[in-house]
Amino acid sequence: MTVSPTAERPSLRSQRLNQITNEPHTQLDALVKAHAPFETQANFARFVVAQYLFQSELVTLYNDPELIKIIPDLAERCRAQAAKLDLGDLDTDIPAPVAGALKHPSTAEALGWLFVSEGSKLGAAFLIKRAVGLGLSETFGARHLGEPVGGRAEGWKRFTRTLDGLAFSAEEEAAVEKGAIDAFVRFTVLLEQAYASAPELA
Ligand code: HEM
Repeated sequence: MTVSPTAERPSLRSQRLNQITNEPHTQLDALVKAHAPFETQANFARFVVAQYLFQSELVTLYNDPELIKIIPDLAERCRAQAAKLDLGDLDTDIPAPVAGALKHPSTAEALGWLFVSEGSKLGAAFLIKRAVGLGLSETFGARHLGEPVGGRAEGWKRFTRTLDGLAFSAEEEAAVEKGAIDAFVRFTVLLEQAYASAPELA
C-alpha cells in the first residue's frame, strides 16, 4: 500500500479508494500499534471494543436489502456478532454506543464504508497471527479477525469486482470516496474512545 500522492488516478474504483485511503490507513495502522494491542489481553480487549463498536454501527448496512441486491452475501460478511463473542471471551463488557454513528447513507456512501470494513479483513490476517501469541484464536477472543468463509482474498476480490462494476454518476463517485474516508475517521474516533474508556489498563 505504498502509493505516491502524485500518482495518476487509477482506472478501477477500488484502486482509487485504496489510493485516497492510503494515508488514513497508514495513520490508523500506527495508532493501532501505538496502543500495543498485542502486549496483553487487556490491551487487545480494547482493540476488540473498537472493532465491535465499528461493526455494530454497520449492522444496518450489512443487512440492507438494497445493498444485498448488489452484494448477495453481504449479511454473512458482517462481523458484529463475532466481535461480540470475542468481548465475552475476553470478559469485557459490551460498550455503550458512541454518539456520531453513520445514519442513512446513500448506497454509494454506504459502499465506501463497506469497502473499509471489508478491506480491514486483509490486515486482520496479520493481526490474528499476533493474537495467537496472546492465547487467542479464530474460535476464542479473536473470532472477528478469522478467515471468512470462502477465503480472505477471494471474498475481497468478489467485493471489489462488484464495486468496480457499478456504474456511478459523478455525485455517487464522490459519495463512495467520502464514505471510505469517513469510515477511517470514525474507526479512529472509536479506537481512541475504546482505549480512553479502558477500565484498568497499566
Ligand atoms: C477500519 C479499517 C482498518 C483497520 C483498523 C486496519 C488495520 C490494519 C493494521 C493494524 C494493519 C497492520 C497489520 C500488521 O502489520 O501486523 C493493516 C494492514 C493491512 N491492511 Fe488494513 N486496516 C483497515 C482497513 C483496510 C482497508 C480498507 C484495506 C484495503 C483496501 C486494508 C488492507 C490492508 C493490507 C493489505 C494490510 C497488510 C499490510 C499492508 O499492505 O499495509 N486495510 N491494517
